[in-house]
Amino acid sequence: MEVLSKFLVGPLHSITSKCMVLLVTVLILRALLFPSFPGFDGIEWGNLVCIRTPLLNSDFGIQQDKFLEVPQLVWGLNNQKIAFARACLTARMLNRTLLMPSLSASLFYKEIDLLQPISFDKVFQFEKFNALCRGFVRLGCYSDVLNRTEVLKMEKGSGRRWTVERDLAQLKEHSKGSFDDYEVIRIVGKNPFLWHDHWPVKDYARVFECLDLTEEIAKEADRIVSRIRAVGREVTGNTEAVEVENNIITSDGSSFQPLPFVAVHMRIEIDWMIHCKNLEQRLNTNQICSGKKEIVERVGNIAGLKTPVVVYLAVADKLLNNSSSILDDWEEGFLPFEKKRLGVDGIYKKYPYLIQSAIDYEVCLRADIFVGNSFSTFSSLIALERTQKMIRINVTNMCGENVRWPSYAYNIPGESNGPMRWVTNMSESSLQAISYGTNHISC
Ligand SMILES: *[C@@H]1O[C@H](CO)[C@@H](O)[C@H](O)[C@H]1NC(C)=O
Ligand SMILES: *[C@@H]1O[C@H](CO)[C@@H](O)[C@H](O)[C@H]1NC(C)=O
Ligand SMILES: *[C@@H]1O[C@H](CO)[C@@H](O)[C@H](O)[C@H]1NC(C)=O
Ligand SMILES: *[C@@H]1O[C@H](CO)[C@@H](O)[C@H](O)[C@H]1NC(C)=O
Ligand SMILES: *[C@@H]1O[C@H](CO)[C@@H](O)[C@H](O)[C@H]1NC(C)=O
Ligand SMILES: *[C@@H]1O[C@H](CO)[C@@H](O)[C@H](O)[C@H]1NC(C)=O
Repeated sequence: MEVLSKFLVGPLHSITSKCMVLLVTVLILRALLFPSFPGFDGIEWGNLVCIRTPLLNSDFGIQQDKFLEVPQLVWGLNNQKIAFARACLTARMLNRTLLMPSLSASLFYKEIDLLQPISFDKVFQFEKFNALCRGFVRLGCYSDVLNRTEVLKMEKGSGRRWTVERDLAQLKEHSKGSFDDYEVIRIVGKNPFLWHDHWPVKDYARVFECLDLTEEIAKEADRIVSRIRAVGREVTGNTEAVEVENNIITSDGSSFQPLPFVAVHMRIEIDWMIHCKNLEQRLNTNQICSGKKEIVERVGNIAGLKTPVVVYLAVADKLLNNSSSILDDWEEGFLPFEKKRLGVDGIYKKYPYLIQSAIDYEVCLRADIFVGNSFSTFSSLIALERTQKMIRINVTNMCGENVRWPSYAYNIPGESNGPMRWVTNMSESSLQAISYGTNHISC
């Protein structure tokens, strides 16, 4: 910007030079503001080889030769997952293949050049996604696009007058007629997280189920879960035991239940505390900003929880002023661990923010018990996927006792000042109802 201001205060004698300056300014601004937005050339493709299925084979139920392109997905992992699912569902509505979007590896969202675009397939498995979501939504590669000049730009409206209805009408209009002839529709404007929501919760859940971490990242999550299990074995004295697919086999061949672990998404970082205080004021409630003391107390009161138990504390260390203090004040029988005490911070440090969150997310998903904040989108998505897991194993009374994959919200008091049991209501008609902060948590 230095250069720019010098340019502007310099002597401007003629109209021509004024015009030149204006033109240069526009060009510079454009370069500054849109450095690597996902255009046809802006993305690094890595080693991705697209498997092309014959175009005439339409058993995907989705046009494979018509594409949708969306702006880069930004902010936290949870925002990017929601944005991704919304982009998929938009493409589905237009009966188009979604061009693999670009995610953002860093959390910095104010400065566009710090967004660090990262290709979808560096985080999630591309082919597995298409296999699992076959017939529902489909991802494609930029190399599948035949005619790169034939792009229709579709501007997303904004402002108060751009209502849900207008947004839906625009999508419906673009799904037919002459719009459908364009090989590529490129949506320009806000990132998909900010688009209007037109889809029921179960459609989002269907997309989330198709997202599997890449092998490398999944292996790191495995290492952390194994480490947590190992800590549990040290406590029970079963250090000889080895874990085989969730079953622990001791050296004499007998098997025993592993010590359960509770994952707590401790949302007490500085950024959150500012946000949640404002939210509490606006919504006139005091059930959003649980501090450390309240979290420790509520987790300590989970009904029927047998101790000793390992407690894994999922926090964004970078945003915490003193991460060792979260280990204090736990009651006897509760063995708190964060990344450092577990000795796994080295694993996390290798990766950018987005992947660190993805690993933590996976660990929380696999915990025997999960406790989070119902006003956190990150916690909400974990509760949603755990609810899906329960549905898949046909749990009938998801709020009942002794079920597998239970979740709790520590910001809402439950029985005997424990945390409230939490399942996602899959019948809600929009994701808004469950994911942008709520204390209606269905149990
Ligand atoms: C979408 O496109 C596919 C492939 O051309 C077609 O079989 C299907 O009927 C279309 N779906 C809708 C809802 O138009
Ligand atoms: C690509 O699309 C443009 C605009 O529709 C058209 O003029 C051009 O002939 C097309 N090129 C190819 C190779 O199909
Ligand atoms: C962070 O620091 C503030 C004030 O310096 C303090 O009130 C708060 O409890 C600290 N948070 C943690 C998790 O240590
Ligand atoms: C962080 O917390 C630990 C444990 O409560 C305490 O011993 C240590 O002095 C704190 N460090 C800082 C820099 O506040
Ligand atoms: C769940 O129930 C369905 C239908 O009753 C059945 O087909 C399926 O095998 C069951 N799944 C499990 C894991 O029990
Ligand atoms: C789930 O959501 C549906 C639709 O909004 C609603 O009718 C139902 O009462 C909700 N169920 C629970 C248990 O909250």
